[in-house]
Amino acid sequence: MYTEIVMDHFRNPRNAGSMENADGIGQVGNPKCGDIMKIYLKIKDDIIEDVKFETFGCGSAIASSSIATELIKGKSIHEAVEISNKAVVEALGGLPPVKVHCSVLAEQAVKSALYDYAQKTNKVIKGLENYKPEDDEIHCQH
Ligand code: FES
Repeated sequence: MYTEIVMDHFRNPRNAGSMENADGIGQVGNPKCGDIMKIYLKIKDDIIEDVKFETFGCGSAIASSSIATELIKGKSIHEAVEISNKAVVEALGGLPPVKVHCSVLAEQAVKSALYDYAQKTNKVIKGLENYKPEDDEIHCQH
């Protein structure tokens, strides 16, 4: 039911943990299942130099956050904002249909952290114009 990649990222999550002095922090939650995902970004010259995640959630949410950190590490903030949950699912080699919503948490957590960074630095990140932090709770639906 789960691909090897999903199992690998679930068992050996990449970039797990918290970060001190992060430049952007995003947290999103799924009110239905209670799962929470937090992303920390270290950004220099608009490049994501480091990223960490903390996820209290199902295996698919952990695998999604782990692979999302790999997808955005070393990328520019403008590239990172383009990462969709579809890209996360593809990078995982697929998720069972009932678990696709878990990947939405990863997309939202990245956007939330980028939004936090943009707010703190007064930057405009194209693609975040319509982003509203209060939406974080309702984007992920079971
Ligand atoms: Fe809640 Fe996967 S079941 S995020």
